[in-house]
Amino acid sequence: MPAVIARGFGRVALALVSFLVFAGPAAADEVLNLYSHRHYGIDQEINALFTEQTGIEVKVVNADADQLIERLKSEGENSPADLLVTVDAGRLQIAKEQGLLQPLAADVLAAATPEGLRDPEGYWYPFTARARVIMVNKERVEPGAITSYENLAEERWRGKVAIRSSSSAYNQAWVASMVAANGVEATEEWAKAVVANFARPPQGGDRDQIRAVANGLADVCISNAYYLGTMINSTDAADREAASRVRVVFPNQENRGAFLNVSAAGLTRHAKNIDAARKYLEFLVSPEVQQMIAEGSYEYPISLDFEATPTFEAWGPFEYDTTSFPEIGDHLDDAIEIFDRAGWQ
Ligand code: FE2
Repeated sequence: MPAVIARGFGRVALALVSFLVFAGPAAADEVLNLYSHRHYGIDQEINALFTEQTGIEVKVVNADADQLIERLKSEGENSPADLLVTVDAGRLQIAKEQGLLQPLAADVLAAATPEGLRDPEGYWYPFTARARVIMVNKERVEPGAITSYENLAEERWRGKVAIRSSSSAYNQAWVASMVAANGVEATEEWAKAVVANFARPPQGGDRDQIRAVANGLADVCISNAYYLGTMINSTDAADREAASRVRVVFPNQENRGAFLNVSAAGLTRHAKNIDAARKYLEFLVSPEVQQMIAEGSYEYPISLDFEATPTFEAWGPFEYDTTSFPEIGDHLDDAIEIFDRAGWQ
């Protein structure tokens, strides 16, 4: 009966562990487990501060959101994860749909976030906002020459557009928002024309597109705004110099607004540490942590405070798209198929 013996042994071992935990000092007996797609240095400081203030230890498993979703699925109720943390809302919308999350009633969190940018049923809550914008070479592109995402398809930009691969969750969510706004057919036509305008086959991350615009390899690119923020405020002189050659254009100000995505977290279906998860989410939207994020990763505070840093203030306020936001998850598959048909690598 090896299974019974093993189980019996497990119980003894568990009792011993519990004894040791309760006999020890009170600190760090509570743990919060994150499955996170975030990849920003400031997060370690934030988590350390949370532990300092609450005594709750934060354990992080880092991977991309699709891998984390697969892992949640295969682990089922044995999953140690309490929160699924992503860098885009689309993946959380999918995780919710697949039954991997549970709702969390949290007035503090709801109050901290503009209504159009969160899940109305509380399955996940955002804590940073990130605008996916157009950036242009200041010398080569005069103000007003490009004002919308739709403009990227125009023939005048032939061979002048730099953008990363379609495998990026950032591009997928952004094009899903194009589908929500313009429909599948029009977005496919648009994507084909954008591909025809590529300055080079997609390569690198957002910062590499900014560098391509800075050095004249391309005239325009698409990037999350915070990547330019990191370059403007970089300790690397070459990055600061490149950033100085680039101008931010917040697109679609005449209609639906610039595409805004969020970094957000959802309580997992089988979370064991729900109180700790709630504390952590409330901590993330506290003014102190929101300022750490604004100054540390150059993401916008979730309150959309456009004056939180000198960098944001210089870029100025902008209108953002809340109409297509709730539908990103619904159109991710459309976006991926469009990339495929358009030959967008
Ligand atoms: Fe990023």
